[in-house]
Amino acid sequence: MAENLTQETVRPPGAVFFIFGATGDLARRKLFPAIYSLYREGKLAEDFAVVGVARRPRSDEEFKEDLYRSIEEFCRYKIGDKEQWARFADHFSYKSLDINNVDGYRELRELTESVETRFGIPGNRLFYLALAPELFGSVSFNLQKGGMLNTSGWHRLVIEKPFGYDLQSAQKLNEELSQVFKEEEIYRIDHYLGKEMVQNIEVIRFANAFFEPLWNNKHIANVQITLSETVGVEERGGYYDHAGALRDMGQNHMLQMLTMIAMEPPSRLFPEDIRDEKVKVLRSLRPYDSAQEVKEYVVRGQYTEGEARGKKLPGYRQEDKVDPNSNTETYFAAKVFVDNFRWAGVPFYIRTGKRLPVKTTEVVVEFKQMPTNVYLGQKHTLEPNLLVIRVNPMEGIYIKINAKKPGSESQIEPLAMEFCQSCLVGINSPEAYERLIHDAAQGDSTYFTRWDEVATAWAFVDRIAAAWAQNPSDISTYPAGSWGPKDADELLAQDGFHWWPVNGQEEDNVIWIKQN
Ligand code: BG6
Repeated sequence: MAENLTQETVRPPGAVFFIFGATGDLARRKLFPAIYSLYREGKLAEDFAVVGVARRPRSDEEFKEDLYRSIEEFCRYKIGDKEQWARFADHFSYKSLDINNVDGYRELRELTESVETRFGIPGNRLFYLALAPELFGSVSFNLQKGGMLNTSGWHRLVIEKPFGYDLQSAQKLNEELSQVFKEEEIYRIDHYLGKEMVQNIEVIRFANAFFEPLWNNKHIANVQITLSETVGVEERGGYYDHAGALRDMGQNHMLQMLTMIAMEPPSRLFPEDIRDEKVKVLRSLRPYDSAQEVKEYVVRGQYTEGEARGKKLPGYRQEDKVDPNSNTETYFAAKVFVDNFRWAGVPFYIRTGKRLPVKTTEVVVEFKQMPTNVYLGQKHTLEPNLLVIRVNPMEGIYIKINAKKPGSESQIEPLAMEFCQSCLVGINSPEAYERLIHDAAQGDSTYFTRWDEVATAWAFVDRIAAAWAQNPSDISTYPAGSWGPKDADELLAQDGFHWWPVNGQEEDNVIWIKQN
């Protein structure tokens, strides 16, 4: 019996899920565990099938053994009941395929029809390409040529980033895909949009009278978005050295989070209305006009040797598959402006980097100081009010306010009131991939990126990349395990601001009110 089956449990219509790249890392770490969690929660009934596709030969039995291991290691649900496991695993089959050879797709079609008959699936097919983007085009063409799209139900394509390397390559890729799939059939994943707290941004903003009236340039001094990681480039040196932090995290996750913070309330909660509002934010981003402006507003850095938690860490140039003379950035911070009525004059500071001291994703909204304050004449420096949204790995929010120190006459102390969602026993937030696979099967594209969002984000990022390319070696360094180049602090200091501490750097002068 499924866990947590409530009235709210929505089951998508029966479908076959094709995982291209079924022997790869993404499938093992994220996709199979997500499908198992959906099954355990009753969000997938018995009318589904999964066909793993990859080049490597594998029997169905071997594939199911891989599946078992992946779920044991990476799923938030542990495999309990043997019978339930056997029932689940029965929905899986494997097809070894040379993805460039159309004949294999005809065989795939036969297999598909047989599982559709077996599980009573009405011809709905979802193709998840956990593959290098260079292969997206040829897989799409071959799916069409091999008759995989002639079906009585719907067909959808789910693809992962990177969606191109720049605007031009993204356009080319999109043209290829659109010869086979309509825009509404393409689900471009940005896994940050599947995160519980990123989705919660909308609710915090639009369901609270506390915040929305203040959500503008009259009351907000600046917004800070941090996506810091402790990891280096691990085994992905080859990909990363070509991409860098701006393309790997900036063009997608960071700008998507910025749109969620800055967008206007949509008129209705339909996917297209929400995406229309997000793309307006991207169109309002002030482009940097010259290399000089990029230098002034954007900081790039690369980590050198360092130390964290007593462990020596290599520099980026010493990492596997990285050019020893590489100038690729592993960190960037930028001051960004959203030039519209709501946000004119409010800086958005965004930063991301590898080998920073903590893994955290946080949004800090810093409110303006009170215009006149009875306490100003006294010796206090009043701290501004903050709303902090913690996205990952800790999930929650806190607000920082000023209050009188108990017992004193008028001494003021900052007070942080926290709601820590991830600390609550019983809250086991679904992984981003669970939501996104479920949404794609439901036909809900709200948390996927539409082509115009992708293109507009590339246009913004391309200007930065072009300016950097004029002077590739002009890059700051920072020791692994530190908070990045000092210039990133300067970016805020020039405006009289500073980066607020993030999770793991709590200040001593703040009184915390935490839930038990
Ligand atoms: C991926 C990037 O999109 O996001 C990685 O390619 C990065 O470089 C990862 O490590 C971070 O995701 P998360 O969910 O762990 O914050």
